[in-house]
Amino acid sequence: MTKLATEVVFTLNNHTKIPALGLGTATPSEKNAETKEAVIAAVKAGYRHIDTAWYYGTEKYIGYALEELFAEEIVTREELFITTKVWPSMHSNPAKSLEQSLQDLGLDYVDLFLQHWPLAFQSDEDGKPSVPRSADGTILMDPQGDFIATYKKIEDLYKHTDLVKAIGVSNYSQSFLEKLLDQVDVVPAVNQIELHPQLPQKALCDYCTEHHIIVTAYSPLGSSGAPVTKLPLVQKLAKKYGVNENELLQSYHINSGRVVIPRSTNPDRIASIVRLAELSQEDLQALYHLGEENPKRYICDPWGKNLDFQWWD
Ligand SMILES: NC(=O)c1ccc[n+]([C@@H]2O[C@H](COP(=O)([O-])OP(=O)(O)OC[C@H]3O[C@@H](n4cnc5c(N)ncnc54)[C@H](OP(=O)(O)O)[C@@H]3O)[C@@H](O)[C@H]2O)c1
Repeated sequence: MTKLATEVVFTLNNHTKIPALGLGTATPSEKNAETKEAVIAAVKAGYRHIDTAWYYGTEKYIGYALEELFAEEIVTREELFITTKVWPSMHSNPAKSLEQSLQDLGLDYVDLFLQHWPLAFQSDEDGKPSVPRSADGTILMDPQGDFIATYKKIEDLYKHTDLVKAIGVSNYSQSFLEKLLDQVDVVPAVNQIELHPQLPQKALCDYCTEHHIIVTAYSPLGSSGAPVTKLPLVQKLAKKYGVNENELLQSYHINSGRVVIPRSTNPDRIASIVRLAELSQEDLQALYHLGEENPKRYICDPWGKNLDFQWWD
């Protein structure tokens, strides 16, 4: 019988469970409204995990989808795993960011609340502008900001409220994780980073595993245009295992104990990328070598370039 990626669940370091396959929702803004139908299609296809963020502008469409799914009794709140994130422009007030997210999602808690980047932007108290720039285009960092102080506020929400079931980080390199772990009580449950065969970041993944932090792979297809699906080795292995390229790339992570959150707003595609291939160690290694020999990072936002990641062009 075909194994399904939608049925695989991992256990986080606080003993809560996270479904291994989630739907990504960082759509280009003109497609944000399509997220509603995408979420409905995903849940009907068996997905139980939705990844979003205050920054994406998709939370209210996810909220509309959830309202419909709950009303039609297709799924219950408890069966779903919802992740959201606090953006660097809201670094001084993660509680306010979370309140807005919960309001838009129509929920009274999220399953995972992430610090989106270990950065603090100089914005107003509503987080505007979300990416502040000086006249010459330089991104304005808040000199009072401190990424560890932001995490500690997230930690307080975890310790003292019922609004978040687990907390974690995103876009943390090993050196930033080392600094964080030195100073906080709650080890992040997750580090969400760009990951695919062209960018294996093996040392960082090993560090996370050693510290009981689950890695979530974002942009698993290389983002818009899905360039990673076009690699000859990916196409060859997809054929070998009788799955499509998306499923092969998702299996690469899930077989290695990582969560993966591909994005699509195409309901047919969403439903057709749920099979899990059981890759041999040899094939997993071949996929790792691809990126070790010729690494390529697709998401190189300018604010990330001093975060000690390799290959940030
Ligand atoms: N924490 C962070 O800083 C961060 C950063 C980036 C992303 N993320 C999260 O990770 C999720 C996934 O990453 P992503 O959105 O960058 O992109 P992705 O999942 O790597 O790629 C999505 C794109 O690939 C297209 N696609 C999928 N399969 C395809 C195929 N077989 N052929 C051609 N095109 C195909 C989709 O189009 P269709 O819609 O037409 O299917 C969509 O445009 C995000 O949505 C977000 O939730 C987090």
